[in-house]
Amino acid sequence: NVPVITIDGPSGVGKGTLAQYLTCKTGFHLLDSGAIYRALAFGAVKNAIALDDVPGLVKLAETLPVEFKATSILYEGEDVTSKVRTEEVAGVASTVAVIPEVRAALLQRQKDFAELPGLVADGRDMGTVVFPASPVKLYLTASAEVRAERRVKQLKNQGIDANIAQITQDIKERDERDTGRKTAPLRPAEDAIVIDTSDLDIQEVCRKAESLLWE
Ligand code: CDP
Repeated sequence: NVPVITIDGPSGVGKGTLAQYLTCKTGFHLLDSGAIYRALAFGAVKNAIALDDVPGLVKLAETLPVEFKATSILYEGEDVTSKVRTEEVAGVASTVAVIPEVRAALLQRQKDFAELPGLVADGRDMGTVVFPASPVKLYLTASAEVRAERRVKQLKNQGIDANIAQITQDIKERDERDTGRKTAPLRPAEDAIVIDTSDLDIQEVCRKAESLLWE
């Protein structure tokens, strides 16, 4: 019985940073499930698999050659960390993530991350689908505008110039696909603790989560 802390929510809400903070605090493993969807998107583009070729995408998902090493994402052994972090890859990821067969093909792979001493799982359906029995479920929200601003800053730190209007539009489109899809739509689990981060900086988010978890 491996303890799992799930963190779900839309794009740019600070899940990744909170997840990393909590893994440091607990010594738990980390599942960045979005990176798996991004790796699938990267592989689909690389292998010229059409985004409506369900059998092709499922086959790739079943044998996805992605590995996580420290903070790097490897695809067929190549470090693709920055390549999968682009908004283009994110768009493709959210498109293939709509397909139920693709989600099913990635399910066991995600569950396998739950190893002792525990797991912090970051994604869209960690609390609702992948780890529904998790005793600790967090759900982060914030307005699309606030999230777009954060994403622009984050991209700037990576040396990528981003246009705020474009990013806001991308985020809204991705939100629509994530919340509107039939399989595993983005929503808080019934027993999730919802944290609105619109007026909190990342340190405040971490402190708030910590106080909810341990006090
Ligand atoms: O970094 P950001 O939150 O923008 O995206 P991500 O977590 O890397 O996920 C990229 C895309 O993968 C999302 O827009 C979702 O459509 C999809 N995804 C999903 O469907 N289920 C998950 N558990 C994680 C990601």
